[in-house]
Amino acid sequence: MKNTFYITTPIYYPSNKFTLGNCYTTIICDGIARWNRMMGKEVFYMTGTDEHGQKIATKALSSGKSEMEYLNEIISDSKSLWSLLDISYDKFIRTTDTYHEKAVQKIFRKLYDKGEIYKSVYKGMYCTPCESFWTNEQLVDGKCPDCGREVHEMEEEAYFFKLSKYQDKIKDLLENTDFLEPRSRVNEMINNFIKPGLQDLCVSRTSVKWGIPVDFDPKHTIYVWIDALPNYITGLGAFSEDESMFNKFWPADIHVVGKEIVRFHAIIWPAILMALDLPLPKKVYGHGWLLFGGDKLSKSKSSGLKDINDPRILIERYGLDSVRLFIQKEINFGQDGNYTQELFLNTCNNALANQYGNLVSRTLGMIGKYLGGKIGKAKNLTDKDVEFEQFVINKRNKVIEEMAKYNVSGALNTVFDIFDKGNKYIDENEPWTLFKEGNITRLNDLLCVLSEAIIIGTTLLMPFLTDKPKTVFERFGQKIPNLIEEYNSFGFIKNDTVTNKGDNLYPRLDINKEMEELYAISESMA
Ligand code: MSP
Repeated sequence: MKNTFYITTPIYYPSNKFTLGNCYTTIICDGIARWNRMMGKEVFYMTGTDEHGQKIATKALSSGKSEMEYLNEIISDSKSLWSLLDISYDKFIRTTDTYHEKAVQKIFRKLYDKGEIYKSVYKGMYCTPCESFWTNEQLVDGKCPDCGREVHEMEEEAYFFKLSKYQDKIKDLLENTDFLEPRSRVNEMINNFIKPGLQDLCVSRTSVKWGIPVDFDPKHTIYVWIDALPNYITGLGAFSEDESMFNKFWPADIHVVGKEIVRFHAIIWPAILMALDLPLPKKVYGHGWLLFGGDKLSKSKSSGLKDINDPRILIERYGLDSVRLFIQKEINFGQDGNYTQELFLNTCNNALANQYGNLVSRTLGMIGKYLGGKIGKAKNLTDKDVEFEQFVINKRNKVIEEMAKYNVSGALNTVFDIFDKGNKYIDENEPWTLFKEGNITRLNDLLCVLSEAIIIGTTLLMPFLTDKPKTVFERFGQKIPNLIEEYNSFGFIKNDTVTNKGDNLYPRLDINKEMEELYAISESMA
């Protein structure tokens, strides 16, 4: 069996300030990448930036910079954000990288030589801000279906990719395989694009200068998607002198993309690969949006105040785990989900402070107080202990199943079921009463079972929350695992294991106070 795992985010348009919404795909992919590393796979995680097109050239010009000056500043800023978010990417591709530009030219030429691309004249309704041509049927009330702005008729000589030729193959791929998930996106693709009939795709421009020139016809530049989509293979060295990484990691295991760009990844990209006679990625996953006041972009409230969703501010105040937790746990993966400051703060309090942090500090506190900080192997398990252990193992198996389906939020919620049950288990067993009764043997067994449950749960948590959980192993006198399977069953705590309570993992937040302070920040930024 192939033991490699290749995962990608879309390549982002370099925009000034990334909000939490822009971080969504990257954080989700990071959880999946880290999970697979801990499952023992050799992972390649790629992200990057989509840097060509008229919009970028215009933005650079208006800020008085050259395109590359403008881009370099934004790219360095976004890389520092990824490092702040602890994103474990293996490669950051920029479409302005020379190797990418050369490879895209070769891809274009190969498609042309094979008769998959031909020259003609394009006529259509064009939306300048979106750089998109639309057919009349696609327009909404005569306006751009993406941004709602005016479109105008435009005509130019252009190259076309024979997308229409792949209509039946793509239909079959979507309908009869698990290529695209969730399934609801399949229906959208079939109804909106396949049923009306796929049209050949315009893949070059003479009007846009900031792009990769067609090497055999340099007045044309290669148009957006046929420059951007191949990043997934050029980043591995496809169409370069050294294709070893490409041979090793392609086909991708999963391309994770937002729902608005599913069409490009589930229709155009497989058609391009078919035309190149290359294997298709195993899966495209179209996730939902993080919504701010019902919108994909952040909006002000009627009061004029904005919910703070700048990840840098949130991380500075509430720590890295808070932001990664909200994205991965609170938004049902595949669906849209809301962000508000209040939801965010409540998630921090409920999951981090009350469920997980509290369980860890209660357990360590009791080991300190009742057992002098030392814990030993459990000797006589009660039926209830065995039942609790089975609960934890069942949940562990469920996390593994959910992650095999890429259900990040489902997996993470299941991990927190373990912590929730752990807190209840303490309450049901009243260790304080055992202590009063002087039943130290039973106390040790109970606290040992709880400690092991925490360690098993924390192992499952590591790919998703990368800050505090790793400190928990040392507190319980255990080694930090590299693999999920290192803590796969109970019974690993040895006699005379020294524990160390340490500080509270997560502070309990005063929600009202925090809300006021966040609004004050929002006001000062307005
Ligand atoms: N450059 C193209 C992708 C080319 S891939 C070959 C692009 N870039 S983008 O910057 O506009 O979007 C990148 C990703 O960010 C998309 O998957 C998009 O869905 C995601 N998000 C941006 N805002 C978002 C939310 N508010 N919520 C969740 N994801 C969103 O499209």
